[in-house]
Amino acid sequence: MVFNSSIRYLDQRLTVDEVDIEAIIDEVGTPAYVYSLARMRRNFHRLRAAFAPMSARLHFSVKANGNLDILRALNAVGAGFDCVSGGEIYRVTQAGADADDIVFAGVGKTRAELAYAIKNGVGWINAENVGELSHIDQLAGKANSKAVRVALRLNPEVTAHTHPYMATGHGAAKFGMTTDVIRGLLDKPQAYPRIRFAGIHMHIGSQLADSDATLAALDKLLALTKDYPWIRTINLGGGLPVAYRFNETITPPDQVAEQLSYRLEGYDLLLEPGRAIVADAGLLVAEVLYVKRQAGQTIVVVDASMSELIRPALYGAHHEIVPLRQMEGDTETAQVVGPVCESADVLGADRELPPLKPGDKVALMTAGAYGMTMASNYNARPRPPEVVVDGDRWLVSRRREKYEDVLRYEI
Ligand SMILES: Cc1ncc(COP(=O)(O)O)c(C=O)c1O
Repeated sequence: MVFNSSIRYLDQRLTVDEVDIEAIIDEVGTPAYVYSLARMRRNFHRLRAAFAPMSARLHFSVKANGNLDILRALNAVGAGFDCVSGGEIYRVTQAGADADDIVFAGVGKTRAELAYAIKNGVGWINAENVGELSHIDQLAGKANSKAVRVALRLNPEVTAHTHPYMATGHGAAKFGMTTDVIRGLLDKPQAYPRIRFAGIHMHIGSQLADSDATLAALDKLLALTKDYPWIRTINLGGGLPVAYRFNETITPPDQVAEQLSYRLEGYDLLLEPGRAIVADAGLLVAEVLYVKRQAGQTIVVVDASMSELIRPALYGAHHEIVPLRQMEGDTETAQVVGPVCESADVLGADRELPPLKPGDKVALMTAGAYGMTMASNYNARPRPPEVVVDGDRWLVSRRREKYEDVLRYEI
């Protein structure tokens, strides 16, 4: 059985590229994240090829996966980076990124973060507040830096078709500035002498089910830019969808690109994909601790939880769950739950699974994006290791935390 170009059963054992996942787990234990660099590179190249006719520049959204080896590998294939905090800027520069290839976004950048970004010379700041522009202008003066290149984030007042927690473009959303506010700024650019208003940024949400909302929002954006012809760059953010379910079909990126292309003629295009590059390159491996049958249910307790992967609890997100060793025989409906003391700690509800027993290992699929970056120490659980597979080699990119690590800043 083949899940994607890198993840498949080989001799009934779940394999990432040329590596048997169980061989990794025998050394690092569970829970553990495992990433395929080959799959991630393939996703990046596929996106780049899809948007090549528009010469789009891809800035990987670091919030999706900030692992240094992932960032280094993306830097090596020519990705830029989308950062949303001073910490992410620090992280990508440690991974070798050129500051000029960073776009710095975020609805609540502090003065310290803006000063840090300006000092490091980030390529773009995506501004989301009028007050932020005053900060940038002052800080650029203080740092005696060249004019700071800014894209204004548009809130197009368009609701994306996605989970409400992932929709960011409706008027009531906290993100961006509405058209009237942006017009007010672009009508008087001289009010900010140390800012070069060069682009409009927009990100209406993630896991976008179709392009309708994007196209409606883009039309609003273009109605704005036509009145300010010196704006030549459009940053359309991220949001390209990922198939989280085995039978799910999503619009392929070249089709999305085609839908956008004629509207964007004459503009430089930037994109900030996150999940479309890393989600299906990663999985989270867990061990079955207990199986209990009660109240007409089969409850499979595993050693991974919402502390390691919060997406099911936070968004009701679906991650397919498969055993590391392919099993024959009848399946049964089971609830796959973690050990955390929250009823929301359900990793998979009503799943058809082979009869699992304690000690069996399972993989939560498509967990490479917003998995480890959202992991926490809730219930004082040490965060899991991250393993990176490159062809037939693998390495522990980040070791498992120890109890002492969890207490590090208290003692
Ligand atoms: C401004 C911005 N850009 C890019 C992204 C990446 O989104 P995705 O991982 O869905 O591509 C996000 C996600 O929250 C975002 O807020």
